[in-house]
Amino acid sequence: MVRKYDDFHKSVMVEEVLSYLITKKDGIYVDCTAGEGGHIKAILEYTNKMAKVIGVDVDYEVLEIAEQRLKDLSDNVVLIKSSYKDIDMVLRGLDIDKVDGFLMDLGVSTFQLKGENRGFSFAKDEPLDMRMDVQAKKDAAYIVNNYSQEDLRRIIFEYGEEKRFAHSISKSIVKNRPINTTQELVNAIRKGLPSSQVHERHRHFATKTFQALRIEVNQELKNIEETLAKFESFLKGGARVAVITFHSLEDRIVKNFFKNNERYNFLTPKPILPSQEEIKHNPRSRSAKLRVAEYKGV
Ligand SMILES: C[S@@+](CC[C@H](N)C(=O)[O-])C[C@H]1O[C@@H](n2cnc3c(N)ncnc32)[C@H](O)[C@@H]1O
Repeated sequence: MVRKYDDFHKSVMVEEVLSYLITKKDGIYVDCTAGEGGHIKAILEYTNKMAKVIGVDVDYEVLEIAEQRLKDLSDNVVLIKSSYKDIDMVLRGLDIDKVDGFLMDLGVSTFQLKGENRGFSFAKDEPLDMRMDVQAKKDAAYIVNNYSQEDLRRIIFEYGEEKRFAHSISKSIVKNRPINTTQELVNAIRKGLPSSQVHERHRHFATKTFQALRIEVNQELKNIEETLAKFESFLKGGARVAVITFHSLEDRIVKNFFKNNERYNFLTPKPILPSQEEIKHNPRSRSAKLRVAEYKGV
C-alpha cells in the first residue's frame, strides 16, 4: 500500500522533545516507541544526522512503515521489533553500554487506529483485537468473553477511570456475550449506560472502556513502570529521559517515578503541554503531557 506523507502519524510535541532530549548532537538516543518513525526523523534532522538512534516498537507492521520512511535518511538508525520492557536485552544485543537519552511516546499510532483489523477504534467495525504485538496471546475479545464481571468492572473502573458506570457496563458486557467485534462491544457499552450519558458526553461514550481494555490487553501500566526502572543502568550522567503520556494513569506513574528517585533531577514537575496551535492542527495531542528527567550519574 502506498501512503502519502500526510497519512503518517502526527508526532506530538516534536520541538519540545528535541529541546529537552538532545544534549549532544552526536549522541546515542533510544526511541522506545518508534511507531511510524516521526520523532526519529525529527531527531536525525535536528542533529544533522549525527545522532545514532535505536528505534524499538512491539508492532512490526508499524516498524515496516518507519523503515520505509527512514531508510534513505541515515545509516545511523537501527529498528528493532521488541517490547520496551526488554530494552535491556535489546541494548545488550547491540553491544550498547550507555546512551544519551530515552524517549517514550505512549499511546496508539495513527496506523494502529486506522489500519485494517487492529480493533483499536470504536469508529470502525472489525474484530475486537487491540494487541500492539500481533503475536501476543490475549486479545480484547478474549478478555471481554472470558473475564468475570468483577474483573471487567475493576478494569473499566481503574484503567478506564469510568467511575460511575463501570458496574453497569461490565454487567451489560457479560449479558451480551459473545462479543467479537468492536461494534458489538460499542453496543454492549451503550446498553450499559443511561441514554443521557450516551448522548451528552464530551467524548464518545465508548472511549473509556476501549482505553481500559487496551491497557489490559497490552499490560501498559505495568510495562511502563518496569521499563523506567531499567533505563538507569544505561544512562550517562546528564542524559535525559523524556516521556509523553496521554492519560492521567500513565502520567501519574511517570511523575511519581521521577519525583521519588533521587538519582534524577526532575526537570518537569509541572508537565509540558502542547501549544494551542499544535492542538488545533492535531487534536489528538490535546491530552498529551511531556515529562523529562535528567540522570545525575553515579
Ligand atoms: C504514539 S505511537 C509512537 C509514534 C512515534 N513517536 C512517531 O512519532 O511516529 C506509540 C507506539 O508505541 C508502541 N508500543 C506500545 N507498547 C509498546 C511496547 N510495550 N514496546 C514497544 N512499543 C510499544 C505502539 O506500537 C506504537 O507504535
